[in-house]
Amino acid sequence: GIVAIRDSLLKMRSEGKKVYRLESGDPSFDIPPHVRDAIIDALMKGYTHYTESTGIMPLRQAIHRKVVEENKIPIKDHDHVLVTNGAMHGLYVTFRALLVPGDEVIIPDPVWTEIADNVRLAGGAPVRCVLKPENDFVYDPADVESLITSRTKAIFILTPHNPTGAVFSKKILEEIVDIAVKRNLYIVSDEAYEHIIYDGLKHVSVGSLPGAEDRSITIFSASKSFAMSGLRIGYIVTNIDKIIERGKKLLRCTINGVNSIAQYGALAALNGPKDYIEEMRREYQHRRDMIYETTNKLRSLKPFKPRGTFYIWCRISEDWRDSEGRRSDWAMTNYLLRFGLGSTPGSEFGPASSEYIRFSFSCDTNHLAESLKVLREVLE
Ligand SMILES: Cc1ncc(COP(=O)(O)O)c(C=O)c1O
Repeated sequence: GIVAIRDSLLKMRSEGKKVYRLESGDPSFDIPPHVRDAIIDALMKGYTHYTESTGIMPLRQAIHRKVVEENKIPIKDHDHVLVTNGAMHGLYVTFRALLVPGDEVIIPDPVWTEIADNVRLAGGAPVRCVLKPENDFVYDPADVESLITSRTKAIFILTPHNPTGAVFSKKILEEIVDIAVKRNLYIVSDEAYEHIIYDGLKHVSVGSLPGAEDRSITIFSASKSFAMSGLRIGYIVTNIDKIIERGKKLLRCTINGVNSIAQYGALAALNGPKDYIEEMRREYQHRRDMIYETTNKLRSLKPFKPRGTFYIWCRISEDWRDSEGRRSDWAMTNYLLRFGLGSTPGSEFGPASSEYIRFSFSCDTNHLAESLKVLREVLE
């Protein structure tokens, strides 16, 4: 799987070979200085004890303000906020709180691997709705509706979308909410990439739309917005009391509160200046332009121009073959690996995507430029 790709690259690097990390989705940026200072300050003040298992009160208050003001999600109060160990844990808690064995959740195909895994961990069954290139890899509401059965519990939304970089429009989200209202379904929305969005597009939180206020559960992350990936801060917001009640139990029994120091860092990130979010966004957009331009010129690839995230989703051309005459996604990933180039095969994100490959541009801009040079050489 994906881990084997990373392990091969790390092994090559340890043997002194140059590697190009276009498989990894970890932001290249350092955390903002005021976040670092807040973390040091919390440490010096001895804020190293147990916290409330749902998160420290000032952080939940800051999150509540943020989701109401910025995301326009009408969350009742800070008691409807749960601080989690990253969005990953937020997804785990959400699906565990929401699902009983046999419940179905409609998810996109392709989608970030851990979504289906978390649905299954909760005893649920992921039901895949294929995202089509002719729809710019956004749900077709009619397709979503056609997959609903008596066991369907929720529709899962991911915008901006990993791995395709698609961004769902307000209109499509409204249609999904209409379906959810009509069929009495929950909406689970992963907005980890809310700030990594390009071309002047505005992120729309599905929970802000009329009809969604009492049926949506939204998961956010500090990993991409504030480059805090290793500090593990995410949060869930929902007005559904049952989910909050169960979520509290799950938090207590899984982590009993996120690392106290990291919570003070997140508090500073949410309350502090926001200019660096825009700076990072601009730099990512510059990298997006670089990688799109390069891949778009290669005969072997047909890229989809990402509207958000730091991934580019490319279709492998009909006539590309490796030296043994194979055309699959894994064949291309393994071929690139020989030159030290990381990538992720499309089928890792769902069965409909074995003719696709994903490259990440979260690495720093110089590293990206070098990687693109090699990519051009080996795929031309
Ligand atoms: C779609 C999506 N959701 C959630 C996450 C998890 O983020 P976190 O670091 O907050 O667990 C990722 C990380 O890659 C992601 O791609």
